[in-house]
Amino acid sequence: MRMRTKAIVLTCFLSGIVISGCATINDLAPQINDTTVRLGAMRKINADQLEQGRSIYLTQCARCHSPEPVTRYSLQQWNTILPRMCDKAELNQSERAMLAAYVEIVLEAERQSNVQTDAEMRTVHSPSN
Ligand code: HEC
Repeated sequence: MRMRTKAIVLTCFLSGIVISGCATINDLAPQINDTTVRLGAMRKINADQLEQGRSIYLTQCARCHSPEPVTRYSLQQWNTILPRMCDKAELNQSERAMLAAYVEIVLEAERQSNVQTDAEMRTVHSPSN
């Protein structure tokens, strides 16, 4: 595909998901926020590297198919999917590392927010005294 065609296809796809309202880009690939930056720092991954990982997910990984929500797969599943797909996308070592870190940290942030929600639910539903 020529560059221009690619750009048009990508633009149509991205505006399509925004307009349809089914899934926003942030549902697919959550934006970097305080939580993900903090989790990244614990792994020596900075915010810029996380941003790049996200951008790879939304562009390079969307060349052949639309990106699925990162949280659709477990870390274990991603560990088998990513090496295969990174080969397909012809990512270099640093791109692979940033993408893998982004995916891992998004899953970890999601897990932590679920734990928090469970705790809140328990607080709400536990019989008061
Ligand atoms: C060159 C085309 C191409 C690129 C680039 C590509 N994929 Fe894929 N992807 C495929 C094809 C074809 C399938 C389905 C068949 C298969 O699994 O090989 C697929 C399937 C998937 C699946 C479904 C699960 C599975 O194991 O089949 C996921 C998730 C996925 N890709 C993620 C990604 C991510 C993340 C990237 C970026 C690193 C990426 N893809 C880049 C072609 C591509």
